[in-house]
Amino acid sequence: MDKTIIQATAKDLPFVLSLQKKFSNQIGFIPKPAVEKYLEAGKVFRGDLNEQEAGFLLLRETPCQNPGVFSIVQAAVKLDAQRHSLGFCLTGRAEKAAKEAGGKLIQAACREDLDSNCFWQAAGFTLVAMRAGGQARGQRVLLWRKAVLEGTDLRIFHTPKYNLGANGRFCKLSKMEEWKLVEQRPIEPIDIERACL
Ligand SMILES: CC(C)(COP(=O)(O)OP(=O)(O)OC[C@H]1O[C@@H](n2cnc3c(N)ncnc32)[C@H](O)[C@@H]1OP(=O)(O)O)[C@@H](O)C(=O)NCCC(=O)NCCS
Repeated sequence: MDKTIIQATAKDLPFVLSLQKKFSNQIGFIPKPAVEKYLEAGKVFRGDLNEQEAGFLLLRETPCQNPGVFSIVQAAVKLDAQRHSLGFCLTGRAEKAAKEAGGKLIQAACREDLDSNCFWQAAGFTLVAMRAGGQARGQRVLLWRKAVLEGTDLRIFHTPKYNLGANGRFCKLSKMEEWKLVEQRPIEPIDIERACL
């Protein structure tokens, strides 16, 4: 299987939107104008499998936390292209981009009921923190992190009070959305090892 990762451009908008729609349950929804901005700003990578567009990853710096923290906002690979290491390649490219931009670590947030937690673990990420989920699903959200700068303490942030919305404005996080370091809240630990068997 031939895999290529490139920086996506405005031409990739329909592909990104269609994959986002397909996996909206897992990766949520970012409005079209915001996706356009991310594409223009070069924050989206596209992964091709055998010269067919097959996945994408959206990476941005998260300035409301400590400097040097980069977030994988969305990552998805088409169903028929999954399990061919394209996710690994996309993540690897994101790590490289974050490092080149002076980053310390990259992170991804993932609802606890999703299989993709196993992917983050397999890709070398560490489960660092969790927060309560929305009322509709009642699932906690897990925060996975990986250092891109050697020696980085993965717990360098503590409970961001603000988040940068897709519209570029800061919004205050409610109490429910505050992250707790896993080691500070060992209630109902998540047995990722067992879940991934
Ligand atoms: C997560 C996702 C991007 C991974 O893409 P992928 O190209 O299939 O991932 P890879 O082939 O690089 O997987 C590498 C390893 O991760 C682990 N892994 C990946 N998907 C997994 C799954 N569904 N269940 C368990 N382990 C998984 C495996 O160890 C895999 O290695 P293997 O195939 O040799 O067993 C893809 O499953 C996806 O698009 N999911 C839907 C959207 C989503 O959930 N995004 C993340 C939201 S937090």
